[in-house]
Amino acid sequence: MTRTTAKGRFITLEGGEGAGKTTLSRALAGALAARGRPVLRTREPGGAPGAEAIRGLLLGRGPWDPVAEAMLHFAARREHLARTVLPALESGIWVVCDRFADSTLAYQGAGQGLSRDVWERLCDLALGALRPDLTLVLDLPPERGMGRALSRGDANRYEQAGDAFHARVRAAFLEIAAREPGRCAVLDAGQPAEAVLGSALGLVTERLEG
Ligand code: TYD
Repeated sequence: MTRTTAKGRFITLEGGEGAGKTTLSRALAGALAARGRPVLRTREPGGAPGAEAIRGLLLGRGPWDPVAEAMLHFAARREHLARTVLPALESGIWVVCDRFADSTLAYQGAGQGLSRDVWERLCDLALGALRPDLTLVLDLPPERGMGRALSRGDANRYEQAGDAFHARVRAAFLEIAAREPGRCAVLDAGQPAEAVLGSALGLVTERLEG
């Protein structure tokens, strides 16, 4: 997938359970709109009708074969890109997306044992050259995040995975950010929400508007 006119910017929010991605997504979209940017908030898995149907399969009952599960995430992602994200970016809209391909590397890769090689091949197939312009990794010790996530009730299949799984997911996100410092930045999600938003806006100004 390629982008012909790159007027919009593609910002992804990543991190473990209960790290505050949804809160940040709402606040960041509001702040960007106040700066005069047209903004679309979206999420994965989901963000397009077919992708939302796949989300139901993924968050419902498993188990899935790990490669099949990753393929479902990428099928949903491709549908989301084709129907929602790319058309928005092409018409100059900034897209703030709650989770993207890094979540598959962290959850299905580090969490469930999918190899990096398979993940890269799926990225090539489903994304082509498209990558986020900025990825904000919200970092929080899993025990704090899981407390927040479980207090919301109705834990999904991933939220029910054990502590060791969530520790591997956290480490994987930090490793992804360390490997691609130009695209990614880590935010301390233990701070108050306003401070997290302030850091995020600072990064947007510095990296995307400079
Ligand atoms: P959601 O309720 O949206 O959780 P959160 O608020 O933490 O984003 O459910 C999405 C779940 O799907 C979440 O537990 C992480 C998981 N997930 C993957 O395992 N792989 C992926 O590629 C994506 C996008 C999400």
